[in-house]
Amino acid sequence: MTTNISEVQKSISDAFAWRSAVKSFDPERAVPSELLESILEAGRMSATAFGLQPFRLVEVKSTDLRDKLLEVSYGQRQVVDAPHFFALCAVTNLDEKYVRTYIENIAKTRGVQVEDLKGFEDSMLGGISYMSDEQKVAWSARQSYIALGAMLETAALLEVDAGPMEGFMTDKVDEILSLANHNLRSVAYITLGYRKDDKYSQMKKVRLPKEEFVLSV
Ligand SMILES: Cc1cc2nc3c(=O)[nH]c(=O)nc-3n(C[C@H](O)[C@H](O)[C@H](O)COP(=O)(O)O)c2cc1C
Repeated sequence: MTTNISEVQKSISDAFAWRSAVKSFDPERAVPSELLESILEAGRMSATAFGLQPFRLVEVKSTDLRDKLLEVSYGQRQVVDAPHFFALCAVTNLDEKYVRTYIENIAKTRGVQVEDLKGFEDSMLGGISYMSDEQKVAWSARQSYIALGAMLETAALLEVDAGPMEGFMTDKVDEILSLANHNLRSVAYITLGYRKDDKYSQMKKVRLPKEEFVLSV
């Protein structure tokens, strides 16, 4: 843990000021693999309800697939120009088996018995039993946005540009990427790389004033 909090504060506020949802990327400038790894780790390590991580990141490298995605993403060029492209996807199989696999992972990781985790398992199963399949996917999608946020801010701290996107036709994307085969459904994209001639990142940020954003009741 760091001791110089004010330096950390400065890095965070500088990163937030610099960060922009970049729309125009330099296709030739890839992100160094160790930085990319840190950004993906921020997603993997982010908080999720019960720790269930009910979403995945699907990297799309194929130019052919990216061209197809462009057609169903309202022609947004980031989809083909960004050197790195990931679809955040909610799992569609949040069921007893999924929960049991997670329980087994906890038992193995922490060296405890599966039987000792029964109370926790039951509370998770109880929680999801009230949800319809659609509600489960919506709940999973909400978890994925927490990871999206963590990845965006980590990228900014590393001076890597990122573009969060949900402007695409989800059903078509699911089809193009054969996501049903993996029990997944697309939620959002994150594109990563470095900005080039990106006019939006040069504009002033438009935000609510603090007193309107944080209310006291
Ligand atoms: C969930 C989400 C979806 C977004 N979808 C798109 C998108 O499809 N295309 C796009 O150009 N920008 C998209 N954006 C970027 C926003 O337009 C941008 O974050 C907002 O205008 C504020 O600008 P800033 O992030 O550069 O400060 C999205 C942002 C978020 C968080």
